[in-house]
Amino acid sequence: MVAKKPLIVIIGAGMAGLTAANKLHSVSASKDLFEVCVVEGGNRIGGRINTSEFGGDRIEMGATWIHGIGGSPIHKIAQQIHALDSEQPWECMDGNENKATTIAEGGFVLNPSSHVDPITKLFNNLMDHAQRKMPTTTKGDCGNLSVGSFLKQGLDAYCGSSKEEEELKGFGKWSKKLLDEAIFAVHENTQRTYTSAADLFNLDYAAESEYQMFPGEEITIAKGYLSIIESLASVLPPGLVQLGRKVTRIEWQPERHEAMNLENGRPCSSRPVMLHFCDGSIMSADHVIVTVSLGVLKASIRDDDSGMLMFNPPLPSFKAEAISRLGFGVVNKLFMQLSEPPHEHSKGFPFLQMVFHSPQSELRHKKIPWWMRRTATLCPIYNNSSVLLSWFAGEEALALESLKDEEIIEGVSDTISCFLSNSLEFCNGNVNSEKYSHEYKVKFSKVLKSKWGTDPLFLGSYSHVAVGSSGDDLDTMAEPLPKCLTCASPPLQILFAGEATHRTHYSTTHGAYFSGLREANRLLQHYSLC
Ligand SMILES: Cc1cc2nc3c(=O)[nH]c(=O)nc-3n(C[C@H](O)[C@H](O)[C@H](O)COP(=O)(O)OP(=O)(O)OC[C@H]3O[C@@H](n4cnc5c(N)ncnc54)[C@H](O)[C@@H]3O)c2cc1C
Ligand SMILES: *[C@@H]1O[C@H](CO)[C@@H](O)[C@H](O)[C@H]1NC(C)=O
Ligand SMILES: *[C@@H]1O[C@H](CO)[C@@H](O)[C@H](O)[C@H]1NC(C)=O
Ligand SMILES: *[C@@H]1O[C@H](CO)[C@@H](O)[C@H](O)[C@H]1NC(C)=O
Ligand SMILES: *[C@@H]1O[C@H](CO)[C@@H](O)[C@H](O)[C@H]1NC(C)=O
Repeated sequence: MVAKKPLIVIIGAGMAGLTAANKLHSVSASKDLFEVCVVEGGNRIGGRINTSEFGGDRIEMGATWIHGIGGSPIHKIAQQIHALDSEQPWECMDGNENKATTIAEGGFVLNPSSHVDPITKLFNNLMDHAQRKMPTTTKGDCGNLSVGSFLKQGLDAYCGSSKEEEELKGFGKWSKKLLDEAIFAVHENTQRTYTSAADLFNLDYAAESEYQMFPGEEITIAKGYLSIIESLASVLPPGLVQLGRKVTRIEWQPERHEAMNLENGRPCSSRPVMLHFCDGSIMSADHVIVTVSLGVLKASIRDDDSGMLMFNPPLPSFKAEAISRLGFGVVNKLFMQLSEPPHEHSKGFPFLQMVFHSPQSELRHKKIPWWMRRTATLCPIYNNSSVLLSWFAGEEALALESLKDEEIIEGVSDTISCFLSNSLEFCNGNVNSEKYSHEYKVKFSKVLKSKWGTDPLFLGSYSHVAVGSSGDDLDTMAEPLPKCLTCASPPLQILFAGEATHRTHYSTTHGAYFSGLREANRLLQHYSLC
């Protein structure tokens, strides 16, 4: 009898899954050591990397930036495959923040050096502090301190020490204090999109210092983030990646004894893991690398049967608790194409930074929809592009997914009118909007938005360390099952990769990449191949 080669099944053809497949295949191919297969529930590879096209430009619906090119494996691949230049215009974001036009609700253009910069500096200092780039002076117990409350303390201290009573002439109802707080909120809202924390009061302070960034510039990929994915997949033989293969159940054997194998009534497979697919088919495997998002894992441990993916027996409590404690938020991108350049801005739409009144404020303008109020910027995807981009987080990001295109166009155009015109009457909705629409309304021909929150294959965008969890939970995420190494059951039945399993680089493509390599190497080591 010829011994069967071990079969490794990878669930998910995103960055983590394809990196693992690439590594395992390239080590195994020549020696024919084991079989590898990738099963992907969707009908495309890439997962949260979803390069698309809009208005003739190449855009990213998901992962966008290489967060620091120094030492990034993604940057290295991008260089090797010459993906950093392109003929087709792309989302290069070269009209950068340094030349942002900051405007306060109602159309009050703010002076960068006197109004904006001091608050920006305050915010950046506080975040540097949180990330321990500066020596810490915070005393006492930081247990359960959130980034939100840390920032609030910082802002309060600043406001207490400055002349907040100062009058602001020519700024309508804006006082100095309100303006400072609102500019600070712009940065907080940007931070919400960076971290996916719907509320910074739920983002753990202590974990901030563990998060690592690569040094150097942050850039986007001219030929699209998908070119990295395609490069990883290009070495895999046809058929190795199977699309449209949604896994609904993973049966594993935490306590299998050899005898039980004969009794369990299964077809005489000796492979310990059994995968069930949504079309009713099954597949057995020696090892399964699960790379589905933390959102999908969270749904799998809810016992309301809503989970598309189930573990049987259920995941052990140490694993389930880490999954439920960690945070997984929704971040979405909205692209809008201008049908004509707004006539006051024929030099191109500005890199608009919007300073809103707080969502509860009596001073807020009624024309601006609530879901726009925590959006920090609205800007062209490159100098002079007619495609504008905004990022949304939390509740607003989720709401965006269910809005109709016309509602989005109306809401964003009205918001722009309240920033680029001085018509308070219009903003308050007190004026016949027909009369003003010609003068102030920006027209959009179409919109495209991502839908990471409601797509059942993702159920969110990326992970963060929520208050109540810690970096240890990220390590726990990475632990293979069964945990007991001295038990009779076969080891390494279920392995876990994916962005949410990396302690210091979670939430990123390179975190996902490292995690895929880590699990491939775990298996190679198990078979003494490295
Ligand atoms: C809007 C947005 C912006 C981002 N911006 C950046 C950025 O600028 N820089 C950066 O580094 N990162 C960014 N990220 C994060 C980055 O995209 C992810 O960290 C990374 O792509 C995750 O890869 P992964 O392999 O861990 O998971 P995924 O890409 O989610 O791969 C998992 C795969 O599993 C599949 N799957 C799920 N359930 C099943 C099932 N039951 N059966 C079979 N298959 C299943 C999914 O379809 C998916 O293809 C962004 C993400 C989003 C959403
Ligand atoms: C866009 O503008 C910035 C700043 O004005 C400039 O540095 C950059 O080279 C421009 N990019 C393109 C593609 O024109
Ligand atoms: C930007 O676009 C506008 C209108 O499309 C055009 O008039 C202007 O010359 C462009 N500017 C640059 C620098 O390309
Ligand atoms: C991926 O991009 C396509 C457009 O190319 C879009 O229709 C789809 O909704 C995107 N996926 C998600 C989850 O946003
Ligand atoms: C931290 O928060 C968790 C969950 O919210 C709670 O169980 C725990 O007691 C808190 N710890 C401290 C030190 O406040």
